[in-house]
Amino acid sequence: MNILLLGSGGRESALAWKMSQSPLLDKLYIAPGNGGTQQYGENVKMSPLDFSAIAEFVKNHDIDMIVVGNEDPLVAGIYDYFIDNDVLVVGPSKAGAALEGSKDFAKRFMADNDIPTARYKSFTSDNIDEGYAFLESLKPPYVLKADGLAAGKGVLIINDLDEAKKSLAEMLGGMFGASSATVVIEEFLDGIECSVFVLTDGNGGYRILPVAKDYKRIGEGDTGPNTGGMGAVSPVPFANQDFMGKVHERIIKPTIDGLLKAGITYRGFIFLGLINVGGNPMVIEYNVRMGDPETEAVMLRIDSDLVELMKAAAEGNLGDLALREKDEAAATVMMVSGGYPGSYPKGKVISGIEKVTDSIVFHAGTTIDAEGRLVTSGGRVLSVSSYGPDIFAALEKSYQAIRNIQFEGKYSRTDIGRDLKS
Ligand code: AMP
Ligand code: GLY
Repeated sequence: MNILLLGSGGRESALAWKMSQSPLLDKLYIAPGNGGTQQYGENVKMSPLDFSAIAEFVKNHDIDMIVVGNEDPLVAGIYDYFIDNDVLVVGPSKAGAALEGSKDFAKRFMADNDIPTARYKSFTSDNIDEGYAFLESLKPPYVLKADGLAAGKGVLIINDLDEAKKSLAEMLGGMFGASSATVVIEEFLDGIECSVFVLTDGNGGYRILPVAKDYKRIGEGDTGPNTGGMGAVSPVPFANQDFMGKVHERIIKPTIDGLLKAGITYRGFIFLGLINVGGNPMVIEYNVRMGDPETEAVMLRIDSDLVELMKAAAEGNLGDLALREKDEAAATVMMVSGGYPGSYPKGKVISGIEKVTDSIVFHAGTTIDAEGRLVTSGGRVLSVSSYGPDIFAALEKSYQAIRNIQFEGKYSRTDIGRDLKS
C-alpha cells in the first residue's frame, strides 16, 4: 500500500523507519519530512494542516492510508475531513482529538469514567474569583493548565499562592491566546511519570505498545525549562506487571469503554501521560498521537508489522493481530542546538553520522541546505537510538554514538535514565 505520513520530527523519522520495514508498504511519502526522512521514503513539500492539498495528493498518488504524526491536524479534524474519501486515516475523529485539544474536556471525560486523575476545576474570566478561592483551597505547588493546545508550554507549576493568582489572571487575559481562555487548575501530584501508548480500532479492540519514559527538561537532573523531550527509555523498570495491571484495569479499559459510550470514533494512538503516585497510576494528560521522543525508543521494541496493525486499527478491526514486543531494551538521546529551548542558531553543518554503526540516528530538526549539506534547522536536531540488553546498556551505546556526531553548539543531557537505576 501507499502511505502518506504527516510530520517532520524525530517521531516521524522513527515511524517512517519502522513502516519502511513492512512488506505491505509500496511507497512512503513524508510531508514535509526533514533532512533524514528521505532514507525511508519521499519527502513532499506540503503542510500537514493543508487538508485540500493533502486531498489532492492522496488522489494523484493513490494513497491508501494517512498516518498523522502530530496533534495539530487531528485536533483540526483531519479524520473527519477524509471520512468520505477512499483513504484510511490513523487517528481519532475531531471529537476524540479533544482529549488532547481541550484539557477541560479530558478532565470531564476522566471524571465521567472514574479514571484516576488530579482533582480539578476549570475557570474562565467570568468566574476568576472562584478560581482564586479554589487556589486558596489547594496546597502548593499549584498546577495551572491552558485548556487548549499550547505547543507543550501551557502548563505552569507555581509554588507561591500570590504568583499563582497572578498567573491565573494572565492566562485568562490571553497569555496563550485563545488556548488559555479557559484554565484548568488542578491538585499537584507527586510521583514519577511514564508514557503508555495504546492503538485502538474504535470498536473496542486495542493493543498496548511498549511502555516508555521521557525526560522533558533541558538540564541535568531534570532541571531548567521544559523542552519537547531530551531522551527516552523503554521499558520502564517501575512499570512492572503489577503497575501495568492497574493501568490496564483502571485507565485503559475505562478509556476505551468511555469513548465507545460517548460515541466517539477513535482509530489511532492514545497516549496516556501517567504518574505513579505511591504505586497507583493516575492520568496527567491524554495525547492523541505518539510521543516524541518516546517513539524513537518504542519503535525499536515493536517486533510486529506496524503497518499491518495501523491498517487494521484504521479499518476498525484489530481482530486477533498480535503486537509483539522485543525482549531487548531501547533508549534514545536527543542532540539539541545550543541555546534550545530558548533561541538558537540554525544552519550548522552536521558531520559524523556515517561513523555511527551501532545506533540508529533519527533526524528531527535537520534539512539539506542549498549546497546539499546536512544542516541543523531546529532545536531538537537528532535523536540517537540504540538497543541493549537493558536500558542502561542501550543508553551507553547512544552516548558513544553522540561522541562521533558533530555540529557547532551541540548539547545532550548526560543523565537520561539515571533516575531509574536501582
Ligand atoms: P501536560 O502538558 O499536561 O503533560 O503537563 C506538562 C508536565 O507538567 C507534565 O509532564 C508533568 O510533569 C507536569 N504536571 C502536569 N500536571 C501535573 C500535576 N497535576 N501534578 C504534577 N505535575 C504535573
Ligand atoms: N514526550 C511528550 C510528548 O510527546 O508530548
